[in-house]
Amino acid sequence: MRIMKRSSNINRRARGCVIIVAVMLWALNAVAAAPPKDSCIACHSTLPGQYGQPAKLFSADIHHQVGLSCADCHGGDRNDDSMNAMSPSKGFRGAPTKAQIPEFCGRCHSDPSYMRKFNPGLRTDQVSEYLTSVHGKRLKQGDSKVAVCVDCHSVHNIRAPSDPRAPVYPTNVAETCARCHADANYMKGYRIPTNQYALYKKSVHAAVLAGGDTSAPTCSTCHGNHGATPPGVSSVANVCGTCHAMNEQLFEKSPHGAAFAKMGLPGCVQCHSNHEIVKPADSWVGTDPKSLCLTCHVKGDNGYAAAQAIGGGLDKLKAAYHDADAVLDTAERSGMEVSSARVELSSAHSDLIKARVAVHSFNAADVLKITNQGVDTSHKAYEAGIAALHERNYRRKGLAIALIAIVIAISGLYFKIRQMERST
Ligand code: HEC
Ligand code: HEC
Ligand code: HEC
Ligand code: HEC
Ligand code: HEC
Ligand code: HEC
Ligand code: HEC
Ligand code: HEC
Ligand code: HEC
Repeated sequence: MRIMKRSSNINRRARGCVIIVAVMLWALNAVAAAPPKDSCIACHSTLPGQYGQPAKLFSADIHHQVGLSCADCHGGDRNDDSMNAMSPSKGFRGAPTKAQIPEFCGRCHSDPSYMRKFNPGLRTDQVSEYLTSVHGKRLKQGDSKVAVCVDCHSVHNIRAPSDPRAPVYPTNVAETCARCHADANYMKGYRIPTNQYALYKKSVHAAVLAGGDTSAPTCSTCHGNHGATPPGVSSVANVCGTCHAMNEQLFEKSPHGAAFAKMGLPGCVQCHSNHEIVKPADSWVGTDPKSLCLTCHVKGDNGYAAAQAIGGGLDKLKAAYHDADAVLDTAERSGMEVSSARVELSSAHSDLIKARVAVHSFNAADVLKITNQGVDTSHKAYEAGIAALHERNYRRKGLAIALIAIVIAISGLYFKIRQMERST
């Protein structure tokens, strides 16, 4: 009996426990389902002007999207509906001054163990890199006109750099930098030009980028996203070489590689400029007045001789290519089949492109090896075109003879019929 009673007690207690646990789970679930209380957004979205703006912008902000809110950056108590939510005793740290902003953002962005919980792939060196830049160094010296994090990323509507609406998205970066760097009034007092944006907009790079090809560089590609120091004289060629690897290799091995370094000339930039990099022309090599070579070399030196030979080689290849192209065009228009000669000629076009890269060896023999090969190929294509035209002429002659024979036959028939008509 006693044993039975005890077991029913146990049963009753177990049932009680189950109910309590169920009620607790229900309560927990209800709490989890309801959005967390956010008095900061609730109150600020009712405020006018600069105090209301942050709450209105915030839904587009990456920090909002990963579940962070005002208090995660500014501190304070989001469960308190009163102005007390912003009491320093509740950890409120207010809005940072300009000089405080890098450390304000760095509290999270320089903390790998915190950032890993959200995105293990994200770098955490933005602040340390920033402090090495001209912007960061000058900020430390009390210059508040330089760029800090929010000047490039905006604030309260910060977007991931992969978002095309972000001010740091590749096609928007130049405008972002230009807000200061192209404003002569703002940059007054600094001894640097304010034409970088205007020059860059005229470059091949800007045109390629505007066309949607993000493999072309914008300001931050060359200057670094956070370490915004201009590449020094010795590393300028390396910046270009990250994308134009062949040009760099040839240049480094060329007589100019060592000579430019010794004289302190800035590699690629010496001939191509840094911001207004335009499409090069063949007239840049050679002895034409537009030739770059003649800015340093004079008649009689080896550089002049090389320029003359390279320029001559390129001209010869272009002329041979042009002749062959014209003959094949004529043959195609008269319905002749010359597709294999076309394929052959396209390899001469590749040789022309290769020769323009090979110019960077500044070695006439190396360039002429490529241009001569292209000239030979062009000549073969030209011969094939001429043969096709001969064939066309031969066929035309055959056709003419056949036509004359047909005309004679028809008129013979005609007279024969007339004769028969008359005789009846
Ligand atoms: C009851 C309304 C109310 C609540 C709740 C509230 N704020 Fe404010 N907040 C204000 C007003 C009004 C101001 C304007 C300046 C002032 O009077 O202190 C302000 C100013 C600020 C400022 C600017 C301070 C400065 O130094 O310029 C920040 C940052 C801020 N609030 C963040 C927060 C955060 C974060 C929360 C939540 C933890 C929060 N606020 C909750 C009303 C509120
Ligand atoms: C990612 C961090 C971050 C988050 C999240 C954030 N802020 Fe800010 N907030 C800043 C920074 C940085 C400044 C200083 C901006 C400046 O000086 O240009 C600032 C400035 C402010 C100011 C002062 C504006 C002024 O013009 O004086 C207010 C008010 C403010 N924030 C409110 C809010 C509110 C409300 C939220 C939530 C809706 C919020 N912030 C979310 C970083 C943040
Ligand atoms: C409370 C911690 C915290 C603070 C303070 C903070 N951030 Fe963030 N930030 C994050 C987290 C978390 C992410 C989301 C990372 C992810 O998921 O990619 C993020 C994302 C970003 C991203 C997008 C990165 C990407 O590629 O996805 C940028 C840009 C950014 N923050 C800039 C700033 C700036 C500028 C400040 C200072 C005004 C700042 N953050 C302050 C925590 C913070
Ligand atoms: C001079 C402009 C500029 C300043 C100042 C700047 N950033 Fe950036 N930031 C960029 C650009 C440009 C990118 C990269 C965009 C891309 O990847 O295409 C970037 C990327 C980021 C990212 C994404 C991860 C990464 O490193 O690529 C984070 C996070 C970030 N910045 C945070 C910060 C913080 C924090 C500060 C202040 C210490 C800051 N940025 C200052 C321009 C700037
Ligand atoms: C908020 C304004 C502002 C923005 C935005 C800004 N900068 Fe600057 N930057 C400055 C100021 C001011 C200096 C200091 C000028 C000096 O060094 O004499 C400077 C200096 C520099 C320098 C060093 C120049 C030198 O030789 O002394 C470089 C390089 C630079 N910025 C690149 C950039 C790039 C790239 C961007 C965009 C990704 C950018 N800046 C965005 C204000 C800005
Ligand atoms: C293709 C690479 C490249 C691009 C793109 C580029 N720069 Fe530069 N920039 C350079 C080089 C190289 C220098 C010269 C460095 C030296 O003299 O040591 C330079 C110099 C500068 C300077 C120092 C002052 C001056 O004019 O000499 C500033 C400021 C600057 N650039 C800003 C910008 C801005 C803003 C953009 C975008 C509109 C930009 N750069 C785009 C490579 C680039
Ligand atoms: C981020 C990669 C990148 C960097 C860095 C870069 N470029 Fe370019 N460059 C490109 C792309 C992409 C094009 C357009 C495609 C092409 O014509 O090769 C281009 C085009 C050019 C052209 C025109 C080529 C033509 O035939 O029209 C020249 C010249 C040039 N770049 C020189 C430079 C110099 C000099 C530097 C360094 C100051 C530099 N580039 C840095 C990617 C880059
Ligand atoms: C001594 C002057 C000089 C220097 C230094 C120089 N280039 Fe050139 N570059 C030229 C000339 C001349 C052409 C035009 C060739 C042609 O079109 O016939 C050219 C053409 C180009 C082209 C377009 C042809 C191609 O390769 O697709 C690119 C890209 C280029 N250079 C990149 C660079 C890079 C990167 C560097 C540095 C590693 C550099 N150049 C250094 C003179 C120079
Ligand atoms: C910025 C000035 C400058 C420009 C532009 C320039 N060179 Fe040079 N070149 C030099 C210097 C400096 C040397 C090394 C000293 C010397 O041998 O004269 C050199 C050496 C040479 C040499 C080796 C000379 C020898 O004696 O072995 C050749 C070949 C050459 N350059 C060809 C060219 C060609 C071709 C161009 C045009 C595409 C050109 N250079 C443009 C400055 C320049």
